[in-house]
Amino acid sequence: MLRVCPLAALAPGDALRVAADPPIAVFHTEDGDLFAIDDTCTHQDASLADGWVEGCEVECPLHASRFDLRTGAVDAPPAKRPVRAHRVVVVDGEIQVELSTQQPNLPPGLSLGSV
Ligand code: FES
Repeated sequence: MLRVCPLAALAPGDALRVAADPPIAVFHTEDGDLFAIDDTCTHQDASLADGWVEGCEVECPLHASRFDLRTGAVDAPPAKRPVRAHRVVVVDGEIQVELSTQQPNLPPGLSLGSV
């Protein structure tokens, strides 16, 4: 489990980039849901934690591909590959992330250890 922060420290509407390899983006939506996906867009090196959340989707800040926070699926080009989605739990008021065991889809030019 990756320990993120106290739930009280991530207000609804906020997102957080968490150091991991590759980094993880944790979202607390306006509706009060918590999601975690890989932070790095699969198109180029952009941080999805810096993107715009609408409903259950985040729009990449660089070229506006949108990723589903629940599944990591991408539904708008130019990104073509999904990001990984991770399971989020709150334990004793602390947000924790169970990292996916799948291989991450990193953008061209990036590999594990370089992001
Ligand atoms: S870097 Fe995310 S869509 Fe291009």
